[in-house]
Amino acid sequence: MPPPCCDVDYDRMFDARSARRELTEYRRSGPTGSTWRLIDAIKVAGIEGASVLDIGGGVGVVGFELLAAGADRLTDVDAARAYVAVARHEARRRGVADRATFHHGDFVALADGIEPADIVTLDRVVCCYGDWAALVDRSVARARRLYGLVYPNDRWWTRVGIWIGNQTLRFTGQSYRGFVHPERAIDERIRARGFERRSHHRGWLWQTAVYQRVLPSGESAVPR
Ligand SMILES: C[S@@+](CC[C@H](N)C(=O)[O-])C[C@H]1O[C@@H](n2cnc3c(N)ncnc32)[C@H](O)[C@@H]1O
Repeated sequence: MPPPCCDVDYDRMFDARSARRELTEYRRSGPTGSTWRLIDAIKVAGIEGASVLDIGGGVGVVGFELLAAGADRLTDVDAARAYVAVARHEARRRGVADRATFHHGDFVALADGIEPADIVTLDRVVCCYGDWAALVDRSVARARRLYGLVYPNDRWWTRVGIWIGNQTLRFTGQSYRGFVHPERAIDERIRARGFERRSHHRGWLWQTAVYQRVLPSGESAVPR
């Protein structure tokens, strides 16, 4: 059984130092790699006036870029206190604080209290959470139109890489672990909840997928 979120010290793994470093990199270079790809795929799908829910938003890159490109509102949820603080501060600096709301905590636990949004994003978050099915189920249920995620390719080399990373984390006493979850099961689960995949890119490490709702919210593609 994967460890539940509350046993994982996200504050230790994603601390103030790494948050400041990521913010500095973002200010210097803008979004890069798979994050840039996710943002671009969502912009292509249309974001004018949309509400965005960014889960595991980190320092806020996806949310800030979508607001700048025409989205109306951002809700950001992150399990690491320092990342929420840095993202909130950056929202003020960018003059978008009145259009952004920040929540600290495990999205799976908070989901019932979070408003649905037109667009839901999880950029490199599913790989940080043991119970991927709960995270996918609860986040898909909050998506009115688009659902975008970046997650690791389910391949032997990503499994070896994450396994090596986890040994280092264990050795240093971290409770956090990375995961390569089954990509076919993730894809099937999203489709079963009324979505079709409209874009997909497979990199060496990460894959970027954007899904569009084709069945009304609450209707499922599989009989209950
Ligand atoms: C690898 S970082 C990615 C941050 C950002 N999305 C990016 O791509 O730069 C993963 C983030 O997801 C957050 N996270 C992981 N599981 C979460 C959950 N169940 N609820 C909320 N945040 C979560 C972590 O705290 C961390 O900030």
